[in-house]
Amino acid sequence: MSKNFKKNLLSLILIFAMLFTFSGCATTNPNQSNSNNQTSQTTKTSDNSGKIKIGFSFETLNLERWQHDRDYFVQRAKELGADVLVQSANSDSQTQYSQCQNLIAQGIKVLVIIPHDGSAIAPIVEEAHKAGVKVLAYDRLIMNADVDAYVSFDNEKVGELQAEYITKLVPKGNYFLLEGSPTDNNAKLFEQGQKKVLQPLVDKGDIKIVGEQWAQDWLTQNAYNIMQNALTANNNKIDAVVDANDSTALGAIRALQEQNLAGKVAISGQDADLANCQLIVEGKQSMTVYKPVKEEATKGADVAIALAKGEDINANGKVNNGKIDVPSVLLTPVAVDKNNMVDTIIKDGFHSLDEVYKNVPKDQWPKQ
Ligand code: GAL
Repeated sequence: MSKNFKKNLLSLILIFAMLFTFSGCATTNPNQSNSNNQTSQTTKTSDNSGKIKIGFSFETLNLERWQHDRDYFVQRAKELGADVLVQSANSDSQTQYSQCQNLIAQGIKVLVIIPHDGSAIAPIVEEAHKAGVKVLAYDRLIMNADVDAYVSFDNEKVGELQAEYITKLVPKGNYFLLEGSPTDNNAKLFEQGQKKVLQPLVDKGDIKIVGEQWAQDWLTQNAYNIMQNALTANNNKIDAVVDANDSTALGAIRALQEQNLAGKVAISGQDADLANCQLIVEGKQSMTVYKPVKEEATKGADVAIALAKGEDINANGKVNNGKIDVPSVLLTPVAVDKNNMVDTIIKDGFHSLDEVYKNVPKDQWPKQ
């Protein structure tokens, strides 16, 4: 058998041996392989390039505000070399819980959560810690759990700003309180802040709270139904509505409109949603509380990455969640009406002048 022939035979055997080894992996677990490729990369808390992986669980992405948070957060995380896996639970606690489990299984280093229900989600914190994953409560607090950090605004202050503005506008009269989702800890803080301002005026007999209701999941339709019933129950004798946010104010204003009361009844809001900013400059909504979410989302990404690296999160406070004092970064909200719309929301580029003044005759637009 010639030397050449032996050599070729040997290399042929070698090639076959290599082919056989690789095909062995593919066949054993096809899902595994894809997910393996996927999971092998994701079970590591960073991918081959050492990138930190963050899981971000949103209560919902149906409300305008959260889409801003997502975009700013992902942008900042990218700038800092991290990847973000985003999930939306469509306002369902069960879905959110299993999505968080799925994110943990995908090998994230930090789990960021905007809880639908701050109490129902609590057990996920322990599951995450068992997997070596840190937990950041974003905007809304997770209750009764060893949360690693909390980034939000001063939410009681939000309620104070709403009530202060409306009581200046309507110092005496019948008030209706339209609160947020009962499962959202923030809704409780907003109401607390409002009551701090309202109660002394109630005690003085200047204002009368003729009703208070909470809109499940902050939905516009729920708020519309609540406001319609409140107007009927009070023969339209409502002078002011302290409303916790813009998506619900939209529904309340629709009900007021049907009774020709839009623009005549003072009403507050929060989040600076575009439709509500338009209603403010058209005189149908009195004010909104602007929370520069770019600041919150940027801080959120910074804190998430600090947690991933085991670094200091530069907390500026702490908030008790019923179990621990959670190290927190709390930001300051701003009351906005048509007089400072340009110097705040428009100056920040959150919305443009054209967008906000879309329904206002051009000759009545403010100079920028
Ligand atoms: C709150 C949040 C508000 C508002 C509301 C509805 O938790 O702080 O900004 O967006 O949820 O999503």
